[in-house]
Amino acid sequence: MFQFSFNDDRSSCSDTSTISEPLARFECMEITEPRKLLHGISLEPDNLHVFVASVDIQVEYINCLTLPQEDLSDEIQTAELDHSDLIPGKYEGGMKVWECTFDLGELMAEREEYRKLFQNAKVLDLGCGSGILGILAVKLGADTLVFQDYNKTVLEKVTVKNYFFNCSEDKENTSRTVARFYSGEWGSFVGKVQEKFDVILTSETIYNDKNYGTLIDLFKCTLKAKGVVLLAAKTYYFGVGGGMRLLEQALDEDGTFNYRTAWKCDDGVQREILEIRWKQVVPEK
Ligand SMILES: C[S@@+](CC[C@H](N)C(=O)[O-])C[C@H]1O[C@@H](n2cnc3c(N)ncnc32)[C@H](O)[C@@H]1O
Repeated sequence: MFQFSFNDDRSSCSDTSTISEPLARFECMEITEPRKLLHGISLEPDNLHVFVASVDIQVEYINCLTLPQEDLSDEIQTAELDHSDLIPGKYEGGMKVWECTFDLGELMAEREEYRKLFQNAKVLDLGCGSGILGILAVKLGADTLVFQDYNKTVLEKVTVKNYFFNCSEDKENTSRTVARFYSGEWGSFVGKVQEKFDVILTSETIYNDKNYGTLIDLFKCTLKAKGVVLLAAKTYYFGVGGGMRLLEQALDEDGTFNYRTAWKCDDGVQREILEIRWKQVVPEK
């Protein structure tokens, strides 16, 4: 069983395993016709959870708890039966909504300085899982959204459905948005998606410090000159070893980016949001 400081209900667990290797190069693939995944689907209101990010913005979503067992891939079924948060290299936990998503979602929607970042912006929701942060970015005015998750099943069964349930042609503020969905490992994502973003959102993706090099390289390749990364995570992932201080150390060693803590919570499981920007702003070509 693999568990670490996670929960929907904001409690915490300790791990019983360790992650020692970077993720295998699981090739990046785009879901080319996401709308086709909606055929025959109706989301029952009873199955929807609601995240109220601010007085004027909320996101309705499904997660693994609301899906029938047969809709889950073998790895995800195994993880669920085993009460595991993830199976390293096979299933990286995207079917559940992790608590730092709510922290970052509230920051994005409640603080004016962050809300305005999303006006007409091109945004990447990296390690998106349910896609709540990307959906929120659309509701805040983003005009291009790229959703990335390691597992294709997560995108197909949860992210795409949540996206179209919240954002569509007939819904205010979301009709102009272009959304694309990519599965696979970060290294191969960079090779395939050669574009740059104004904002990169990423929540609960730094538990494995072996992936920090790939993550920082991804920021270098995909962040616009004046862009910003908003990264939400636990201060420390017990037993697994990753966490904010180790990531900051990796950023210092690399030397390309400045960072600052934008938000911090010391109650219960300690959580933080890091704002990361280029040290030197190189003009866009
Ligand atoms: C624990 S889940 C968090 C999901 C979601 N962001 C949330 O907060 O609810 C971690 C996510 O990070 C992504 N991830 C972590 N390491 C990755 C890597 N090396 N390559 C691709 N995706 C990775 C996976 O897609 C997975 O969905």
